[in-house]
Amino acid sequence: MSDFRTDGYAAIDWAARYLERVDELPVLAQVKPGELSAMLPVDPPETGEPFANILRDLDELIVPALTNWQHPRFFAYFAVTASEPGILAELLAATLNQVAIVWRASPASTELELRTVDWVRQLLGLPDGWHGHIEDTASTSTLAALIAARHITGRNVVVCSEHAHSSVEKDARMLGMELRKAPADATLAMRTDGLDLSDVAAVVATVGTTSFASVDPVRELAERAHAAGAWLHVDAAYAGSSWICEEERWSQDGVELADSLVINPHKWLMTPMDCSLLWTSRPDEPSSRSRSGPASSSRVPQRASAISSGSPTTIVSSSVSARNTWVRHGSSRPAFRKTASDATR
Ligand SMILES: Cc1ncc(COP(=O)(O)O)c(C=O)c1O
Repeated sequence: MSDFRTDGYAAIDWAARYLERVDELPVLAQVKPGELSAMLPVDPPETGEPFANILRDLDELIVPALTNWQHPRFFAYFAVTASEPGILAELLAATLNQVAIVWRASPASTELELRTVDWVRQLLGLPDGWHGHIEDTASTSTLAALIAARHITGRNVVVCSEHAHSSVEKDARMLGMELRKAPADATLAMRTDGLDLSDVAAVVATVGTTSFASVDPVRELAERAHAAGAWLHVDAAYAGSSWICEEERWSQDGVELADSLVINPHKWLMTPMDCSLLWTSRPDEPSSRSRSGPASSSRVPQRASAISSGSPTTIVSSSVSARNTWVRHGSSRPAFRKTASDATR
């Protein structure tokens, strides 16, 4: 255990130094394809090495091969915002190593998850009564939403914008569902003219497309989806975190009508990869009670839903205890607002 302590202090020291000097490193990895592979042993090690060697390898081999997503001038793809509290939370989560497959397996994880996800719901100004839980990614969250939509509607068609994230297409393909992409207008939002939703299971509206940050007309899509008996899933993975700033809530118009909604705290809410939050406004949907296990195996026995935590269709466990610790101990409402506000500027 003394090694664990000594090495642990060294690891935290290394992490602190990396964060302090990340702005001095190049944003983009300075290696050619295959350069790192050529320096790594082909065979697995026969013996262990002192932890100091591992940290030296981090400095000499790994850091030069990193594209530094934590760099203040990293503007590619999308923003990810790990933070000191979030990093410590990961350490504690790994230490506790909880597997929250059922309530009994980790009462703390289950109950802390529900409470902290509800805190985020309140911070973002989402409606009361929505049921939320943690998924690993937005891709998995949308997969769960499409499964629920197909189950509830008995239909097999998904509609989204031509600018929706590729995860919608991937999820539909995995489920064997037919995907129809609607063209976008001059503002890069989904066009609604000519949309026939009569045989559609789910409409996916994006708030904050990954390429353009454009916003689909959620209210109109929700009204039309519901009139046609379809499920409305809002993919706010990218821009949803910005709702923590009240001045950014213009893009929330109509979101209260959604059947499900995903946001990614690993983008602007100071949480290291991966953490997605999936809410549904239909937690008690009777026709979605499709769990394979007995009711007692649910992580949330009182609430059955195709996309609740007990669903077999989504991830069965997450390191929720400590993933959420950052919300309680590390960060404050103003800190979240500042991060999101800086990101949207
Ligand atoms: C709008 C949108 N949806 C979905 C995703 C997929 O997120 P994840 O990597 O968590 O699956 C992204 C990622 O950038 C995104 O921007």
